[in-house]
Amino acid sequence: MAENRIIHDEELREQEEAIAKIRSMNDKYTAETGRKRKYFILTTGCQMNSHDSEKLSSMLTDMGYEHTDVESEADFILYNTCCVRENAEEKIYGRLGYLKYYKEKNRDIKIALCGCMMQQETVLDKIKKTFKNVDIVFGTFNIYKLPTLMLTNMETGETVFDIWQEHGEIMEDFRSIRKIPFKASVNIMYGCNNFCSYCIVPYVRGRERSRQPEDIIKEIKELAAEGVKEVMLLGQNVNSYGKTLEKPVTFAELLRQINEIEGIERIRFMTSHPKDLSDELIAAMRDCDKVCNYLHLPVQSGSSAVLERMNRRYTKEKYLDLVAKIKKEIPDILISTDIIVGFPGETEEDFQETLDVVDKVGYSTAFTFLYSKRTGTPAAVMEDQIDEKTAKERFNRLLEHVNAGVERISETMVGTVENVLVEEINRQDKNMLTGRTERNSLVHFEGGEELIGQVVPVKITQNKIFYLIGERM
Ligand code: 5AD
Ligand code: SF4
Repeated sequence: MAENRIIHDEELREQEEAIAKIRSMNDKYTAETGRKRKYFILTTGCQMNSHDSEKLSSMLTDMGYEHTDVESEADFILYNTCCVRENAEEKIYGRLGYLKYYKEKNRDIKIALCGCMMQQETVLDKIKKTFKNVDIVFGTFNIYKLPTLMLTNMETGETVFDIWQEHGEIMEDFRSIRKIPFKASVNIMYGCNNFCSYCIVPYVRGRERSRQPEDIIKEIKELAAEGVKEVMLLGQNVNSYGKTLEKPVTFAELLRQINEIEGIERIRFMTSHPKDLSDELIAAMRDCDKVCNYLHLPVQSGSSAVLERMNRRYTKEKYLDLVAKIKKEIPDILISTDIIVGFPGETEEDFQETLDVVDKVGYSTAFTFLYSKRTGTPAAVMEDQIDEKTAKERFNRLLEHVNAGVERISETMVGTVENVLVEEINRQDKNMLTGRTERNSLVHFEGGEELIGQVVPVKITQNKIFYLIGERM
């Protein structure tokens, strides 16, 4: 372990040196032109990727780049990609095609690609063949290397590919730039060992590994000192946190420790796999006042037969029993979910089981996906792939059920007083503020800028299904 640390420190020092070199080049450019070089990041996919982008933004800022939301004015363009579904990949290829012409006009811009898509051989082959104008390509295991990769590219003028097939040591001490200063994401673990048969994540994010609890606590204490009020603990499967540590710690124990940190007011986490959600965790959620009464609990399908083929390792009945147990301990909890429609072999009866679960649980939000075939996963070679028309038709029926459930839940909130953490001025109406309740509902209400970052009681007056309107108490 100690030896690893030394390597880790040396590597980080190398990055700092690269940051300093690039920064002085950028400062020189600014002195000569009166203009600061700018960076643009496109992030697709899950909160893991968003958090990686926050870390990458911090490095680029240290290198002297200024952030821009306008791609056409950027000198450094980075796409942090997702490969969970095919259409996300297609969009990246589309944008890269467009960037080709863009770079022909302005040869000085740099294009970099990273994220889950880059961990696939087929993608790398396609980039090498079709998108020769890309400057830097790296993967999910080595984002900390961005500065040295940029420097190598600047020095050689060659495209730099650096993709690791395996994860290295967990890198600590990463700064990140947050869009909302008082809300922060914290990785508690990386990777996934579940191998759900449709999912490519275990192949591109590697095996499950947890951060040391002391490192997590230290990071959150530092965040609290910076004024962070809400933390989102991130992991592909947080319920199995700590199992692989030398001194095993459960996720429930970790939550209890985080709950003690002064200054933190709200604790959220995702994602929970139903098969690993323990009674100990339910008790911790119930007991810890800062842990929000909100749970993202992906069901994926309501049919036990489909769940079996998905390798989810629970049945419809087990999932419903789990939900009942959670609701018994934490009666006002709101639950959200992920659902896949059109998994290979899904029959109308299977689909009806999914609708039944949706109706029974009553989700406050459901992320619904059309099954997307991912080469290399077991489901990709299963027989009876569902035709697009049937899948889309089921998808639409599913949405009707989901929306009816969401409406029912939102209706129960009208007339109640909710504590809202105010995030920003409403984008449509400057007199309104936007924030989230503890149970993650979006609320708009009239108020002034000075309330941003505060938790204020708001009486809910109108249900607009996907958001609520309220009045400050
Ligand atoms: N097709 C469709 N949806 C998928 N997901 C993961 N893999 C696939 C796939 N191949 C969904 C799951 C997961 C969410 C992050 O993405 O519902 O929970
Ligand atoms: Fe994919 Fe399943 Fe792991 Fe989630 S738990 S990342 S769906 S393999």
